[in-house]
Amino acid sequence: MRNSAYDILFDKVRIGPLTAKNRFYQVPHCNGGGYRDPSAAAAMRGIKAEGGWGVIFTEQTEMHHTSEITPFIELRLWDDADIPALRRMSEAMKTHGALAGIQLAYSGINGPNFYTKEVPLAVSAGPIRTFTNDPVQARALDKTDIRNLRRWFVNAAKRSKHAGFDLICLYGAHGFGIFQHFLSRATNQRTDEYGGSLENRSRFVNEVFADMRDAVGDTMAISLRVSLDETIGNLGFSNAEVRDFIEMNGDLPDLWDLAQGTWEDCSGPSRFKEEAAQESLVTGIRDLTSKPVVGVGRFTSPDVMARLVRQGVLDFIGCARPSIADPFLPKKIEEGRIEDIRECIGCNICITGDMTQSISRCTQNPTFMEEWRKGWHPEKMNPKGESANVLVVGAGPAGLEAARALSLRGYDVALAEAGRELGGRVARERKLPGLSAWGRVADYRAYQLSQRPNVETYFESRLTAAEILDFGFQHVCIATGATWRADGVARQHVVPIPRDGAMPVFTPDNIMAGRLPSGEVVLFDDDHYYMGGVIAELLAGAGCRVTFVTTSAYVSDWTLNTLEQGAIHRRLVAAGVKIVLNTGIAAIKADGVATECAYTGSPGHIACDAVAMVASRLSDDVLYRDLMARAADWADAGIASVRIIGDANAPGPIAWATYAGHRYARELDMPDIGDALPFRREVTALA
Ligand SMILES: Cc1cc2nc3c(=O)[nH]c(=O)nc-3n(C[C@H](O)[C@H](O)[C@H](O)COP(=O)(O)O)c2cc1C
Ligand code: SF4
Repeated sequence: MRNSAYDILFDKVRIGPLTAKNRFYQVPHCNGGGYRDPSAAAAMRGIKAEGGWGVIFTEQTEMHHTSEITPFIELRLWDDADIPALRRMSEAMKTHGALAGIQLAYSGINGPNFYTKEVPLAVSAGPIRTFTNDPVQARALDKTDIRNLRRWFVNAAKRSKHAGFDLICLYGAHGFGIFQHFLSRATNQRTDEYGGSLENRSRFVNEVFADMRDAVGDTMAISLRVSLDETIGNLGFSNAEVRDFIEMNGDLPDLWDLAQGTWEDCSGPSRFKEEAAQESLVTGIRDLTSKPVVGVGRFTSPDVMARLVRQGVLDFIGCARPSIADPFLPKKIEEGRIEDIRECIGCNICITGDMTQSISRCTQNPTFMEEWRKGWHPEKMNPKGESANVLVVGAGPAGLEAARALSLRGYDVALAEAGRELGGRVARERKLPGLSAWGRVADYRAYQLSQRPNVETYFESRLTAAEILDFGFQHVCIATGATWRADGVARQHVVPIPRDGAMPVFTPDNIMAGRLPSGEVVLFDDDHYYMGGVIAELLAGAGCRVTFVTTSAYVSDWTLNTLEQGAIHRRLVAAGVKIVLNTGIAAIKADGVATECAYTGSPGHIACDAVAMVASRLSDDVLYRDLMARAADWADAGIASVRIIGDANAPGPIAWATYAGHRYARELDMPDIGDALPFRREVTALA
C-alpha cells in the first residue's frame, strides 16, 4: 500500500497541450550507446516506461550536422534517415502511458565537428570548449546563419513529431547548448540585436520558440533546459540573471527544465554533493512563471521528493541517475515498496560510458543497457535451470549480487562470508571520506536477501576446498575479492619497486583496517581512480603531512570520466596535500623515496616517514585454485561447476563486480553458447 504522503507525486500535471500521468520525469541522459546502439537505447527507455515514469527523455540529439560532438556518441537527427531509429525509441517510451521527449541540441562553441568536418558555428567566435581542448575555433553566426539555424530547428521539430515524440526539450544547460551560449555574456559578445542586454540575448530563444510553436506547438509541448547558474561569477549566466530571464519570459516554454551549472555541478557525485543539492538555486523560481518546473538532485528519497512538491519548489521530480539505478523507482513508491528501491550511490560510473564512448554501466543496476543486448530485465530473472543449489563464497558486491539474483531465479543459495558483515570491499570503503552512499550497494542487497526464504548466510566462514567438497553443493561461485599490493606493481613498475625495509609501507587495506601512518607521508598513486585521492584526504584529516605523487599529469586522472577530477584536486589542495604530478617512484629508501620525472627520468628525493602505496590489487583466488586442483574429486562431491567472479577473477571498479555477479546468476544452467557472441549488437547496414 502506498503511503498517502506520496500521493502528491502521482498527480497528473499539464505540460502545454499534454498531460503527464505523474510527476516522475526522466530528464535527458546519455548512455554511451546513442546512434550506434539504437535498439539497446530504445529498450532501456522502454524499461523506464514499464517502471512508471510519467515523462521519459532521450539524451541530447544533435539536430543538425553543422554541430556535432564526436567522439561522444549521442543521438542524431540530421535528416529523415535518422527517423526510424528515433521512432523505435519514442514507441518504447510510450508503451505504458509515459510522454516521450526528445532533447534537441545545437552545440555551437562545444561542437568540434570532427566527423562532419564542417566549420563550427557559434554565437561569438572562439576556441571550441570541450573536455579535450581541441585545436578548433568556431566562427560567429552571421544573420544568414541565424536564419538558417532557426529553420533547422523547425525542421528538427517536424522530424521529431514525425518520429513520434510528444515533447521537445531545447538544450541550453551545462554550457553545452546554443541557447545558453546566446544567454550568457561569457559566450555572447555580440554587438548586434542578439547581444548586449538580457533582452537582446533572449532574442534567439524567443524566435526559435515562436517558429517551433507555429510548426508543431498545437500538438507538442516544448520545454527549455537552462542551468540555474553558470558558476563563473557575474560574467556568466548567474542564478540572479536566470531568475531575471525567467521573470521576463515566464510563459515562453511549456515547462522550465532547470539543471545546475556545468555538467560536473549538475551530475555531482555523492562524494561532493548531497541529495537535493540544487534546492537553494531553484527555490522561488516557480513563483516567477505560470509554467511547471522540473529540477534535479539525485533524488532517491520519496520524502524529499514529496516535500519539494508540497513546498512549491518543483512540479516535477527530475531524475537521471536515480532512474538508471532503479528504472522502477516510481512503481516501487506507488506500490509502497520503498525498501525495494535500488538507490543510486552517486558514483558516476554511468557517465564513464559516455566519456569513453563504450556503453554505459551502472554499479547498482547491472542490467542497464543490457535490456536489449542480453534481454536482461532489472526486476525479473530468467526461469530456474535444472540444478537446485549454489554455494556463493564471499559477500562483497559480486557475491551479494550473485546470491540475490540466483535466489530470484529460484535456486537455494548458501552465502559464506569470512568476516562478520556483508559488503566486502564496500563495507570497508563506505567508511572512507565521502563514500558513505556507496554502502547502498550492500544495504540494498542485504535487505533483499533478508526477504528471500531460499538464502542462508553464514558469517565467519572462511572455507577451505576440503570443506566445500564435503558440503555437496552443485555449483560453487567464488567471489573472494582482492587485496591491495604493497610492492608497488602497477603501471610504472611491472616488478616490485626496490625497497629498504626500514621504511614502513601502508596499503589502502591497512589504512581501512585502522592502521594509519603518521608524520610525513608520501602517497604514491599508480592506480589513478578514486582510491589515491580518498586515502590522501583521510590521512591529511588524521594529521599526516601528505605529499601525493603520481606518474599522471592529473590527480586521480580516471575520475575525469566520472566528472569529479577537478573537485578531487580542489579538495586535496584544501586539505593541505602537496601534489607532485608527472613523477614516478624509482625506489623506496630508509629516509624517503627516490623519484623520477615521468618524461625525462630526472631523479629527485622526497623525505618521509612512511609511504602509502595505491598501486594495483591482487585477486584473492587461492580457494579457487585449490578447488581447481581437486577437479577430479568434484563428481564424487556432487559438484557440477566451480566459477570465479568479480575482483577475485580480475579486480575492477565495483560496477564490474555487480555485473559479474549478475551475469553468473543469469547464465547458470544455460546452454553453452560456444564461440557465439554473448550479446546482440547492431551492425551498420551497407549503403
Ligand atoms: C549518464 C548521464 C548522461 C547525461 N546526459 C545528458 C544529456 O544528454 N543532456 C542533458 O541535458 N543532461 C544530461 N545529463 C544530466 C542529467 O540530465 C541531470 O541533469 C543530472 O544528472 C542531475 O540529475 P540526477 O542527479 O538525477 O542525475 C546526463 C547525466 C548522466 C548521469
Ligand atoms: S552508475 Fe552510480 S551514479 Fe550512475 S546511476 Fe548507477 S549508482 Fe548512480
